[in-house]
Amino acid sequence: MATEAATGIAHLANTMNAVRQHEFGGPEVLRYEEAPMPTLQAGEVLIRVHAVSLNPPDWYLRDGYKMLPAEWRPSVTFPLTLGTDVSGVVAAVAPDVQDFAVGEEVFGMVRFPSVGESRGYAEYVAAPASDLARKPATIDHVQAAGAPMSGLTVWQYLIELGHTATNPFQPEAHRPVPLSGKRVLVNGAAGGVGHLAVQLAKWQGAYVIAVASGEQETFLRGLGVDEFIDYTKTPAEDVVRDIDLVLDTLSGPTTGRFLRVLKRDGALFPVFLGFADAEEAAQLGITVSMTQVRSNGQQLAELGRLLEAGTVRVAIDSTFPLAEARQAHERVARGHIQGKIVLTVA
Ligand SMILES: NC(=O)c1ccc[n+]([C@@H]2O[C@H](COP(=O)([O-])OP(=O)(O)OC[C@H]3O[C@@H](n4cnc5c(N)ncnc54)[C@H](OP(=O)(O)O)[C@@H]3O)[C@@H](O)[C@H]2O)c1
Repeated sequence: MATEAATGIAHLANTMNAVRQHEFGGPEVLRYEEAPMPTLQAGEVLIRVHAVSLNPPDWYLRDGYKMLPAEWRPSVTFPLTLGTDVSGVVAAVAPDVQDFAVGEEVFGMVRFPSVGESRGYAEYVAAPASDLARKPATIDHVQAAGAPMSGLTVWQYLIELGHTATNPFQPEAHRPVPLSGKRVLVNGAAGGVGHLAVQLAKWQGAYVIAVASGEQETFLRGLGVDEFIDYTKTPAEDVVRDIDLVLDTLSGPTTGRFLRVLKRDGALFPVFLGFADAEEAAQLGITVSMTQVRSNGQQLAELGRLLEAGTVRVAIDSTFPLAEARQAHERVARGHIQGKIVLTVA
């Protein structure tokens, strides 16, 4: 078993800076302040965070999951620190951790989907080693922090589910479909999930149609999409047909409009809660399927190899210092996100 000095724990201070909230609310509840240093449990790695990206669950939780019925809202303890997706350097490891050593650069999505347990908007975060992978050497911490949740969502929807946990959205497990030579439409293509989805679908050999606002066209064509539809001018469902798969990152009550663009035996994958008419889908022979992303260091290592080779890249919408998490959340509220918003930690 490693000694305390060898694991790096002996050298750490008792406090750090973090962004915390003491109540639910808008961006103004995010406060940069002193917080206790996380303690390490068995199997965990302490990361000195260099960058942490924003994801929709951050603002859902900041707000107290207001969009859910009261009985579904998770209960959390205040003060609360948001943030799942980090990139940084290993500062200490629990004595039983074999896969990572002090000083290594790592990235990961920490403890998702456990609500309120991730705590990445901080100088240090403790993470299960199994949630982490080595940071690709050719990209910086900002890009690496942008990859985990969006990238794993695409991986688990389109490439490989990679776990046997119960699906909270449907009785059966989600099953990706083959993409090679297929016609794939990605709605919300410029966002965190969408911009990685178009690249991973291209990598798998699909013909990719991207749907986004007109200002995203140059960006998405630069990522290799074959066709672009500006949803502010033309509803995609009016102009495309014979699609094999729709990945709808927007979803919600309007996702059912994509049933009519799909071939028989096609698939509609809403990434957020989708409400397609199950009877209509069955009549048309279309599979509608959802899943919830889960932390997975192994899959992240595979994605990391594509990032390292430059096959897939993480686009950065904007960066903000950790102390300006509030401004980063205000940027979210303005919409039209292109890639990822990332907080940098000095
Ligand atoms: N199932 C899961 O486990 C899972 C995991 C991750 C995320 N999600 C969900 O997936 C959704 C997307 O996440 P994200 O991180 O990609 O969000 P995001 O980065 O905020 O991106 C949203 C994108 O949607 C585009 N958009 C907005 N209105 C649109 C419209 N009417 N039609 C087409 N595109 C539109 C926006 O840009 P433009 O308007 O400029 O095109 C933006 O690029 C969220 O609801 C999130 O909660 C689910």
